[in-house]
Amino acid sequence: MTELGLPERVRTAPKCELHVHIEGTLEPELAFALAQRNAVVLPYDSVATLRAAYAFDSLQSFLDIYYACTAVLCCEADFHDLMLAYLQRAAADGVVYAEIFFDPQVHAARGVPMGTVIAGLQAGLREGRTRYGIEGALILCFLRHLSAEDAMETLLQAKPYLGALAGFGLDSGERGNPPGKFADVFAACRALGLPVVAHAGEEGPAEYVQEALDTLSVARIDHGVRAIDDPALVRRLAANQIALTVCPLSNQRLQVTPDLRDHPLPALLAAGVPVTLNSDDPAYFGGYLNANLAAVHEAFAWSDSQWETVLGNAFQASFRNETWKAHWLHTLSLHFADDQIET
Ligand code: ADE
Ligand code: ZN
Repeated sequence: MTELGLPERVRTAPKCELHVHIEGTLEPELAFALAQRNAVVLPYDSVATLRAAYAFDSLQSFLDIYYACTAVLCCEADFHDLMLAYLQRAAADGVVYAEIFFDPQVHAARGVPMGTVIAGLQAGLREGRTRYGIEGALILCFLRHLSAEDAMETLLQAKPYLGALAGFGLDSGERGNPPGKFADVFAACRALGLPVVAHAGEEGPAEYVQEALDTLSVARIDHGVRAIDDPALVRRLAANQIALTVCPLSNQRLQVTPDLRDHPLPALLAAGVPVTLNSDDPAYFGGYLNANLAAVHEAFAWSDSQWETVLGNAFQASFRNETWKAHWLHTLSLHFADDQIET
């Protein structure tokens, strides 16, 4: 067992993370350092006051602070530093590959162009690969509380940078912003040949998960935990092997499932839904990938074979090719078969 209470075999396993917002990896210390570098004033007077504000009662109460803190991200170097800090932490948790969301509309609203954001994030990815041996890919997220026209304009701005993107996503306040609002935008994204994902069934109902599948043709659902309320939908997710990128500490901190022992993860897994575990906004929710795994282990004490399945699901649900997936699934199976690792 590790200091997190996570079995050594799970702690050291190779991992793939599919649901992390780069803006949600902004630690308070880095936020204040960047605020000073860019002469930006944060609405908090210290790291301690900012951290103390992380007592969320809903998704919106979190988003208000998350968007406020992005004010410190102004130039390429800021996005580089943010990415590199995330990759260092993720690599320490065994992550070998991450598909990473970013929210360009938040930055455009402060006059930071798409090209600046992407160039900085890509520079961070390159340095992370060299320094820590971790690979990453970018998923551009549209903000669902803004209009479909705004999203379409953002897609136009992204066209020169399509080679830098692994896909498109949909995030921000879910209630009152159903997936169908973005059907045309997502059709345009798919026409560019890139896969699409969407947050659905986090605070919103199971119907939003269904709607994301029907109107957006998403390859995965981000969160999707409310799918548990609709048995037919659960059967559909299992039959079509549509992965859910579940974020346990996020669900706990945003009061989606205040007690993780009540989380639908075991029921979804038992129903054959390919669930994956992820950190969402780790700087705000109490930890990176292994902290999320430790919270799940504390709640459910999964067997090694259950852990191998769940960690394998993430490699399988990634947007990498079949050869790459087969390589990592094999490496994972060797790791779980290695009797030199203490259990
Ligand atoms: N943006 C960052 N984190 C998010 C979350 N958990 N849900 C929706 N939008 C987000
Ligand atoms: Zn998210």
